[in-house]
Amino acid sequence: MSKVLIVGNGAREHAIAKTVHRFGHEIYAVMDKLNPGIAKISKNYLICKLSEFEKITSFESVDLAIIGPEAPLSIGIVDYLEEHLEIPVLGPNKMNARIESSKAFCRTLLDENQIEGNPQFCVCTSLDDVKAFLKDLGSIEVAVKPDVLTGGKGVKVYGDHLNTEEEILTYAEERLKSDGLVVIEEKLVGQEFTLQAFTDGTHFYVMPLVRDYKRAYDGDKGPNTGSMGSYSLEDHTLPYLSETDIENAKKIIDKTLKALKKENDTPYKGVLYGQFIKTEKGVFLLEFNSRFGDPEAMNVLSLLKTDLVDITFSMSEKNLIRPEFETLATVCVYLVPEGYPIKPKADKKIDVPNENEINAELFYASVEQRKDGIYTSKSRAIAVLGKAQSVSQARELAYKDINKITGALYYRSDIAAEVAVEGN
Ligand code: GLY
Repeated sequence: MSKVLIVGNGAREHAIAKTVHRFGHEIYAVMDKLNPGIAKISKNYLICKLSEFEKITSFESVDLAIIGPEAPLSIGIVDYLEEHLEIPVLGPNKMNARIESSKAFCRTLLDENQIEGNPQFCVCTSLDDVKAFLKDLGSIEVAVKPDVLTGGKGVKVYGDHLNTEEEILTYAEERLKSDGLVVIEEKLVGQEFTLQAFTDGTHFYVMPLVRDYKRAYDGDKGPNTGSMGSYSLEDHTLPYLSETDIENAKKIIDKTLKALKKENDTPYKGVLYGQFIKTEKGVFLLEFNSRFGDPEAMNVLSLLKTDLVDITFSMSEKNLIRPEFETLATVCVYLVPEGYPIKPKADKKIDVPNENEINAELFYASVEQRKDGIYTSKSRAIAVLGKAQSVSQARELAYKDINKITGALYYRSDIAAEVAVEGN
């Protein structure tokens, strides 16, 4: 039994905590807001800002730490904990976390190391650079990406959020003013997929592939969200990907890890999350993240048969063990406040059944526990996950139980609908 510090308080961290708990370890949670699901299975917890590293190091004596969100990674929580506590930490150090925290760093790294997967792009430091790139591209079909972390809400794409050259330039200028640079990329059209890997910087093992749904409403309509749900198949592939597509994504991960090792003093360790897109021209990288995805963490961690603590120890010993996953399908559906993401109804009481009244698994995201019950905030509330022999059965489990949670909430009714086969 190990004592495990878990940093973060979303549904992803609830999934991490449940996984650690399942293997019999003690959890010491650090959260900036109380997550009732994490608190329930923790031996102790501390509420503080995730940037208050000194408070975190003096909280409890632990054997290892697992960092959930990108923000503390981007400001060096791993460097700090490793130095002050001398324990293994699952997560990359600050230099390596730039793969997510700086979009310019990521694109430039791939470019300089001739790694496939980059679209045409430009790291622009002036509006003239932006105009010149649009001219060279001969099109305004682009994505405008802030260089910095924006909680998934900063990327604006032609046709979705920006419709004219003027709108592109206005948004690019806004980012130039706040960040000093902005990344403009050719817009990629195709089918997205998530491939996450555990890595010690030299070796890596991929997790089951996941398809995630970012748009708010059925039929992939409406504004972008943190994600409304996701699914994974029992054979860990996705129906629209060939073996070559998957191999190409793995090659991009492999070459990126090698490039990071060359670039930084220490190798990248932790989870490397690749968001890819299969286009007519092949597989491209949309972005890398330096942590588990949300909701993808719920899909893969609920299948994990290998102790996450053993994986973390093996990572820090640079002798990564091969993780095993159950050959089952998963479907995860998010319940979000009515009006989310534009005008979410916060402060509304929701009723959640007891665990023995449901067959699916629940993961608390952004809710507030008060004396008289659980209340919504402005962000996603609860994720419901079904796990079964087939995606249809997993879907049925998730949707049956989602209706048992009541309040001013809504969810997408078509997560995994296109792959579910009736009667299967
Ligand atoms: N599912 C998207 C993310 O975790 O960033």
